[in-house]
Amino acid sequence: MRHTRIVVDRYGGPDALRLVEEECPEPKDGEVRVRVLAAGVSLPDVMMREGIHPETPLLPFTPGWDLVGVVDRLGDAVSGIEPGQMVAALPIHGAYAEFVCLAQRELVPVPCGLDPAEAVSVILNYVTAYQMLHRSAKVRRGQRVLIHGAAGGVGSALLQLGRLAELEMYGTCSSRGASAVSDLGGIPIDYQHQDFVEEIHRRTGDGVDVVFDSIGGTHIWRSRKALRPGGKVVAYGLTGSLHQGRVTSGRPTGRHRFRAISIFGLYIAGGWVLPGRKRVVLYSIQWLKRLRPALFRQDLSALFDLLRQHKIGPLIAQRLPLSEARHAHELLGEGGVTGKLVLVSSEPALA
Ligand SMILES: NC(=O)c1ccc[n+]([C@@H]2O[C@H](COP(=O)([O-])OP(=O)(O)OC[C@H]3O[C@@H](n4cnc5c(N)ncnc54)[C@H](OP(=O)(O)O)[C@@H]3O)[C@@H](O)[C@H]2O)c1
Repeated sequence: MRHTRIVVDRYGGPDALRLVEEECPEPKDGEVRVRVLAAGVSLPDVMMREGIHPETPLLPFTPGWDLVGVVDRLGDAVSGIEPGQMVAALPIHGAYAEFVCLAQRELVPVPCGLDPAEAVSVILNYVTAYQMLHRSAKVRRGQRVLIHGAAGGVGSALLQLGRLAELEMYGTCSSRGASAVSDLGGIPIDYQHQDFVEEIHRRTGDGVDVVFDSIGGTHIWRSRKALRPGGKVVAYGLTGSLHQGRVTSGRPTGRHRFRAISIFGLYIAGGWVLPGRKRVVLYSIQWLKRLRPALFRQDLSALFDLLRQHKIGPLIAQRLPLSEARHAHELLGEGGVTGKLVLVSSEPALA
C-alpha cells in the first residue's frame, strides 16, 4: 500500500516542504501503525523547517509535532490496543503523513465522539498551557497573569484554561487578535502600538504574578519588568526569532540547536542573581514528557475530558488537506492566524 507524507530536505522557507509518495511504513516490534486523521501545524514546525528549534532533527525529516489517528496495524509484542481505536500522540516530528509507526507507549487513547481536529489542537497547545499554569507557575484563583501571543495557539489555550482557573488575564496580540482575546476573557494589549510594560503597570499598579513569554531573547527581560516582586516569568518560546515565518536574518544556516537554550540559561541565572525576587523559569513540553511521561498522559487525558464536557473549545483557524501543508506554513508566516491550523485526512474517521 502507498501513502504520502511531507518531507523537509533543506532548512528554509515554506517551499522547503515537499510532498512525497512512497510505500506505507510497516510497524516493528512494539510499534503501532496509525492512520493520521489530523496533524497540528504549529510555530515549532516552522522553527524546525528553518533549523532554529532546539529539537530540529537531521535532514531529511517529516514535520508535525502532534497527531490524532486511528490504529491501523499492530507490530509484534503489542497488546491492549485494537485496530480502529482513536489515539493521540506527540511525536515532535513525523505527523505530516498519511500513516506513521509509533511505539505503543507513545499513544494516548482519545475518548469516542471527539472531533479529530479539535482533539489534535489540545495535544501540543493545551498540554503546554495546562502544565505551564498548573505545574510551572502553580497559579491560584484571583492571580494576575500576562500572556504574550494571546490570540495564537498556545495563547488562546492559556486564556481558556486561565478563565477556568479564575485568573485576571492580560494578553498581548496584534489588533487582528484583540476581539478573540477579549472573547476568551483577556484584556488585550496591542503589542505593535503599545508598550506592554507601561500598560501593565498603568492598569495593575505593581504588576502581574506571572508572565507567559513565548517571544524569547531580550523580550524575557521586558516581561520580567511587568512582574510584581515575587512574580515569575515562564519562558517557553522563540517567536521573536522569526519575522514573517522566516529566521530574522532571512538566511537559515543550519541546525541552531543550542543557541536559544544558552540565552534562556542566562536569563534564568539573572533571575536568581538580581534583586526583586523575580524568577525566570523555562518550560518545555518535550523535556517534561521525557522526564515524566506519566504526567503527559495524565494531563492530556484530563484535557480530553474537559473537551468532552465542552469546558474548553479549541479555536480552529482552518482545516486543510495534507497536500496544502506548504500553504499552512505560508499562512502562519503571514501572521494574524487565530487559533490552530490543522491538516486533516480526506477519509472519514473509523472510530
Ligand atoms: N516550550 C514548549 O514546550 C512549547 C510548546 C508549544 C509552543 N511553544 C512555542 O510557543 C510559541 C507560540 O506557539 P504557537 O503555536 O501558539 O504560535 P502561533 O499560534 O503562531 O501564535 C503566535 C502568536 O504570537 C503573536 N506575536 C508575534 N509576535 C509577537 C510579539 N512580539 N508580542 C506578542 N505577540 C506576538 C502572533 O500574533 P500576530 O500573528 O497577530 O502578530 C500570534 O498570535 C512559539 O515560539 C513556539 O515555539 C513552546
